Amino acid sequence: MPDFRLTRRHLLASPLALAACGSAPSTPPLGPVSPLKDLAPCPVGVCGMSGQFDDAGWRDVVLTHFSQFTPEWEMKMEAILRPDRSLDFTLADRCADFATDNGLRLHGHALVWYSQGAEAFAGLDRKTFAADYDRYIREVVTRYRGRTVGWDVVNEAVAEDGDGLRSHHWSEGLGDIDHIRRAFDVAREADPESILFLNDYNLENLPRKGATFLGLVDKLLKAGTPLGGIGSQFHLDIDIPDGQITAFLREAGGFGLPVHVSELDASLRSDSRIDLRSAGERQARQTARVTELAEAFMALPPGQRYAFTVWGARDTDSWLRRDERDDGRDSPLLFDASGTATPLYDAVAGALASG
Ligand code: G3I
Repeated sequence: MPDFRLTRRHLLASPLALAACGSAPSTPPLGPVSPLKDLAPCPVGVCGMSGQFDDAGWRDVVLTHFSQFTPEWEMKMEAILRPDRSLDFTLADRCADFATDNGLRLHGHALVWYSQGAEAFAGLDRKTFAADYDRYIREVVTRYRGRTVGWDVVNEAVAEDGDGLRSHHWSEGLGDIDHIRRAFDVAREADPESILFLNDYNLENLPRKGATFLGLVDKLLKAGTPLGGIGSQFHLDIDIPDGQITAFLREAGGFGLPVHVSELDASLRSDSRIDLRSAGERQARQTARVTELAEAFMALPPGQRYAFTVWGARDTDSWLRRDERDDGRDSPLLFDASGTATPLYDAVAGALASG
């Protein structure tokens, strides 16, 4: 028996609302849902890549529902930095042009990441290492100055278990915290306007990692680093204890900076865990956690709601569906493969529209 709950999305934009007046079929199909960007009092972001730009279904979802765009990988070193440390902006330009041509805010992602750049910077003397590090950041940020509203300047600086900062070629070459401060300083000099973010994941899931991250934010701010925003990715574990998401966002909001929910997805996969729950029970858990996140984000002062960004338009666009552990059934996003809203659309739309 179909579920004819009068949820917000049904009332907002479908024949069901008309059915109440007796002028529409009694059992209408699920109609189109309201554009998220019209419901939300803040930017609603999505990631994507140039290979999707000619996919009509993808464009329809993105251009209908979203107001901000994060290049999923093509503004990173893996797409821009050549082995000789020359720069190729072909793919990054395509992403910037897509955002500009379609009236989307552009969020740059990501300048410095522990997982990229090691090969091109291997074996350099310190002077060359430092000069080319600065040059990379300066040339990339300058190129998109006036087009980006923000940048993830440093991505995933905190150790996996939250015990201090990660060690990698950037920290070994330029110092644990000095390479971070340097990146923000060079980015700020290249672009006085864009909001400069520190971005990381599992901050809500591992309180120790969240505490280390916020301790780093505090240290950078006290040192005068031009850190302008806090990015928390929220690749959610749907079994996170209730209230943990809210607790982290409340503490992160305490700095008074713009906060970016930067990469939301909520996998239904259980992976190695024995999961005796039904698909419906898992989906209810997923919806409850995403609702908590969206409501906690909306509890921030309006000036601190930088953007609410999901990491993919449709379930099948998700990086999680490209993972070898994918079971072909995961539904971590707000729209399914056909572009039809999933229960997570309801969760997000309901919370964002309440703002
Ligand atoms: O599309 C090209 C294909 O044309 C080419 O033949 C192939 C050869 O390597 O590469 C393909 O691009 C891949 C791209 O994903 C699209 O599938 C890149 O190699 C691959 O590196 C890229 O992976 C991205 C990953 O970050 C590394 O950049 C994922 O899409 C992206 O979802 C993931 O996103 C990260 C965030 O940046 C940081 N937070 C975690 C998040 C998930 O890992």
